[in-house]
Amino acid sequence: MARSQIIGTGSYAPEKVLTNADLEKLVDTTDAWITERTGIRERRVAAPDEATSDMAVQAARRALEMAGVRPEELELIVVGTVSPDMPMPSCAALVQAKLGAKRAFAFDVAAACAGGLYALTVADQFLRTGQVKRALVIGAELFSRMVNWEDRNTCVLFGDGAGAMVLAPTEDEERGLLSSHLHTDGTLADILCIPGGGTRKSFSEEVLRDKLHTLHMNGREVFKFAVRALADSTHEALAANGLEPRDVTHVIAHQANLRILEAVLQRLELPLEKCWLNLREYGNTSAASLPMTLDEANRAGRLKEGDVVAMMAIGAGMTWGSAVMRW
Ligand code: COA
Repeated sequence: MARSQIIGTGSYAPEKVLTNADLEKLVDTTDAWITERTGIRERRVAAPDEATSDMAVQAARRALEMAGVRPEELELIVVGTVSPDMPMPSCAALVQAKLGAKRAFAFDVAAACAGGLYALTVADQFLRTGQVKRALVIGAELFSRMVNWEDRNTCVLFGDGAGAMVLAPTEDEERGLLSSHLHTDGTLADILCIPGGGTRKSFSEEVLRDKLHTLHMNGREVFKFAVRALADSTHEALAANGLEPRDVTHVIAHQANLRILEAVLQRLELPLEKCWLNLREYGNTSAASLPMTLDEANRAGRLKEGDVVAMMAIGAGMTWGSAVMRW
């Protein structure tokens, strides 16, 4: 069975930079607190007329250009997002129209910050079965419109952006996405969620007053869970391919918090230098984070043919997982 190979990557971050110093003027926080606890120094914020699909399309065009694939050649578009332009249709449908990818069927995958990895895994299944030959996977998120800008616990963490990957099948036994291992624990839904604005608590004065349409989080619980879950799923993914942590050339991880990544890599006995970091500049861009990080590492010329790339991501749900790829 053919494996999926990533033949192009792209990313996009809005122009506007919001620094920790800017946040000091909005909420009771300090640059030192944010930097020490998270590693984040700044994040990007979308322009008022910019929506998620606009960012997704920018990232997609860059990935398609690198891959040398025309939009009309695409047969599948999967967008990982929980911040689509509107509840329906999907962000992916809007992206399909803007790209002119007429042949592609398109849908969103909602796995919050694990959305990039979930979307990649879903697209991979269609490639493995031979149903599609060219797929576009995007992670795009506009959390600056979903956080409560009065809540210092959450608003300092997130940023906007999009990342994209173009997938094609490869028969090369040595290369491609070897396997991915996804998990969900819905009993933890309430530690990271947007409680209002859906069908449980639809929009009302109460929802708006109590800001239930914004992100709510128990940071400590998420932190503890993330460290264990990411380390365990990465062990699982490596073992499934007969690999050890020492075989990993690069770690491409969802960028939530530097301390989470340090703790995960310590458990895996992997040096932090193997992990491409950009949370300092972008913060947590949710589903966009993993594909944006991959694109940066790729464009920096870090990824060489045959390198073992371990990917990991975690998000609300809780959803999480790890994948192993031979570049
Ligand atoms: N500036 C200053 N103080 C802040 C603050 C901020 N931006 N945010 C929270 N605090 C305060 C808290 O109110 C708390 O004060 P209290 O003790 O008086 O109640 C204090 O700092 C310590 O809070 P605590 O939750 O123990 O801090 P922490 O070391 O766990 O760091 C997070 C908080 C949010 C940075 C950390 O828990 C975290 O990163 N969790 C994971 C979040 C995440 O990654 N979510 C997305 C996953 S995809």
